[in-house]
Amino acid sequence: MNGQHIQIADRQFIPFLSEKEIQEKIASLAEAIDVHYKGKELVLLAVLNGSFLFCSDLVRQMQCDASISFIRVKSYFKTQSSGRVDEVLGIHEDLKDKHVLVVEDIVDTGTTIDKLLKIIQLHQPASVEVCSLLFKKDAFLGTAEMPKFIGFSIPNLFVVGYGLDYMEKGRKLKEIYQIVDSVKGQ
Ligand code: IMP
Ligand code: MG
Repeated sequence: MNGQHIQIADRQFIPFLSEKEIQEKIASLAEAIDVHYKGKELVLLAVLNGSFLFCSDLVRQMQCDASISFIRVKSYFKTQSSGRVDEVLGIHEDLKDKHVLVVEDIVDTGTTIDKLLKIIQLHQPASVEVCSLLFKKDAFLGTAEMPKFIGFSIPNLFVVGYGLDYMEKGRKLKEIYQIVDSVKGQ
């Protein structure tokens, strides 16, 4: 097997974004977020499971002392968006009149953030924006607004690592890998 390839479950993956590229991008996102929310009370709302590494690196690179909260949703099936979002773990914090920044690993069709933003709005925050490390611009359906803060705009391919999983594996990887021979519908 090629040394660059990794195997996760039944599929092969090749390097897509290095640890250095990811960490440098996070530093610039942290800076932009600090500027945007200067002097405001900010709540980072990390979407589990995928954004656990991204959110922890992001918050540690930020100057602003944001509070952190979590929401868990599940919508993906193997390598293609299921188009369905089931809220698993809800919001228990008081978001009223606070500035909320939803932290996502990836926005694909946008179904997840669309549903999330609607739920968050019910809590009457002062503002809600989305920060996503990855954004699949060609898969995005446009039902929700585009994320305000985007790390990398990527083609419509399945990726794994740095929080993102393939069949619940690969989340701990420090880099991001792309699937080899991505087959639609699997
Ligand atoms: P959406 O609802 O179609 O935007 O899908 C968003 C969710 O699907 C993300 O939060 C991820 O959990 C998952 N997802 C989307 N694309 C990928 C991918 O390429 N690899 C791993 N998970 C993905
Ligand atoms: Mg996610």
